[in-house]
Amino acid sequence: MAIIGKDIEQAIEVLKAGEVIGLPTETVYGLAGNAYNSESITKIFTVKNRPTFDPLIVHTSSIERACEFVKEIPEQAQLLAKHFMPGPLTLLLPKKEVISDLVTSGLETVAVRIPSHPLALDLLKKLDFPLAAPSANPFGYISPTSAQHVDNQLGDKIKYILDGGECKVGIESSIIGFFDGEIVVLRKGGLAIEEIEAVVGKVRIEEHSSSNPKAPGMLKSHYAPRTRLLITCNLLLVEEDTSKIGYLGFEKFSPNIPLENQLLLSPSGDLSEAAQKLFANMRLLDARGFDKIYTELLPEKGLGRAINDRIKRATTQE
Ligand code: TXA
Ligand code: MG
Repeated sequence: MAIIGKDIEQAIEVLKAGEVIGLPTETVYGLAGNAYNSESITKIFTVKNRPTFDPLIVHTSSIERACEFVKEIPEQAQLLAKHFMPGPLTLLLPKKEVISDLVTSGLETVAVRIPSHPLALDLLKKLDFPLAAPSANPFGYISPTSAQHVDNQLGDKIKYILDGGECKVGIESSIIGFFDGEIVVLRKGGLAIEEIEAVVGKVRIEEHSSSNPKAPGMLKSHYAPRTRLLITCNLLLVEEDTSKIGYLGFEKFSPNIPLENQLLLSPSGDLSEAAQKLFANMRLLDARGFDKIYTELLPEKGLGRAINDRIKRATTQE
């Protein structure tokens, strides 16, 4: 198993040796390696069992430092960076040569993120290279929101997990690209569309597959638990034996399923709290060995939009 600790110096040592670590961020935990080192990048893909056509996000400590590996930053991107970085936002920007095609899967843009988690920021400030990091889950499974989640699934493949506690945002960053002057949201995430639009005006939302940015929907499911997850509405009458059915609700329990089989995202109806608990609660229910888990969609506003996106992707498509 990996060592789990809060020792930044130890994390730096492991990273400098070309190894990968578990990295806490405010969104989800990352699997991080030196973005300038091809061996580290290869390790990330191997440990995660991720196809190399799926590019990685590069993490740095400030927009000024991003200029080391980014050719230019459009005005709209600068505006967004000023408002929301550090934070749960990733910007697609033209890359310099120093970022290899391995990182971007051959794309001309690199995904840039400045996490706001204090441990991550502190680490990034002390390093003289940026960190490439996808979410620290095996490809296709739910993203991790605690050091323990990372250890459970990847602990035997990595040396060190920097423990930053539970992630505060709980869902991945919002990804924004700039195409011919148009601002496009490629992944709904921890920064609500409404907040983005308040700064740069109307944006286009393009459904995007995490498994392949160029061919959406190639994989049937993503961010998925092992147990079948099905979307229902809260009052659904379940006719089958309910002892083997789990329920992940938003504010209210389902009247038709045993209470001990149920978890709520936010009894007070708070969308931020729901986002924060989403993946951890999915994992808890997934570990219970149910035949299937029912869940419901949340209001399609604020973070509810990104949460619904993750729920739909986690749902078994038949
Ligand atoms: O919150 C987050 O963004 C977390 C934390 C660890 O920072 N990271 C994360 O990384 O979610 P990952 O690899 O699980 O998701 C990154 C997404 C993928 O869907 C990938 O296809 C997309 O970003 N991506 C990366 N570079 C891209 C690029 N140049 N153009 C389009 N999509 C890109
Ligand atoms: Mg991911």
